[in-house]
Amino acid sequence: MNEVQLHAENVRQAAARITAALGGLKPRLALILGTGLGGLARLVENPVVIAYTDLPGFPLLTVAGHAGQLIIGKLNGVPVIVLNGRKHFYETSDAYPLKTMIRAIKAAGVETLFLSNAAGSLRMHIGVSELMLITDHINFLGLNPLVGPNDESFGPRFVPVSDAWDPVLRATIKTVAQQQGVKLHEGVYVAFRGPSFETPAEIRMAQGWGADAVGMSSVPDCLIARHCGLKVAGISCITNMGAGLSDEKLSHAHTIEMAARGAGAFEKLVLAAVKVL
Ligand code: HPA
Repeated sequence: MNEVQLHAENVRQAAARITAALGGLKPRLALILGTGLGGLARLVENPVVIAYTDLPGFPLLTVAGHAGQLIIGKLNGVPVIVLNGRKHFYETSDAYPLKTMIRAIKAAGVETLFLSNAAGSLRMHIGVSELMLITDHINFLGLNPLVGPNDESFGPRFVPVSDAWDPVLRATIKTVAQQQGVKLHEGVYVAFRGPSFETPAEIRMAQGWGADAVGMSSVPDCLIARHCGLKVAGISCITNMGAGLSDEKLSHAHTIEMAARGAGAFEKLVLAAVKVL
């Protein structure tokens, strides 16, 4: 088997394993939990947990704060699949594990992917532990996960991404945030590859490009999901000001700690949003 065939086989087997575990539940929504936001997983009712290690081709995780579990159950009464943990492009340039994860949940019946991440703010009015609804992105990873042979059975070679972050879902999430009294900014997310944080000069460059938050994830997930026809929405939890915009020292531990502070509002918003997405 070549790598394209092996990947397709992994997707098929992982989807079959997930479908069997669904036990008649039909989740249309899946959520990927970002760094420090894994706490949402404990709110899943009657959870059925599958370790990524039991799903062929799924990512094998190495970073603290990322659990590596697929959780099936209900959030606020709504059937969902929660993906707790994912691989980043600072760990590998191999996009297949992420592709397997996203294509397998699509094959298992999911229609909408809700992404979340921890991010640095590029704007003084977007404060730490506040939330930002992603309206658009800039792919500054130097990589696109769709590079390489294209398997037409998953999606087309060329993918239009002018409405990558679904406008209808965005409008719905904004309404829910208002109803719930959750402060929600809107803006453009730029993905840097990491693993080093940005320099102050890079942050000024990203500001000039029109980005509002910076992180190291979600863009590949969005591109893979749009390619296979999933609708995408996403929220950044602001864990720090971008380098040079404040005196705080950036670290992964700081990201996890500050994400936990924003997690309350994030959970409140997601629990209400799943009802109407
Ligand atoms: N830069 C990149 N990724 C991040 C940041 C940041 O400032 N904060 C959380 N994730």
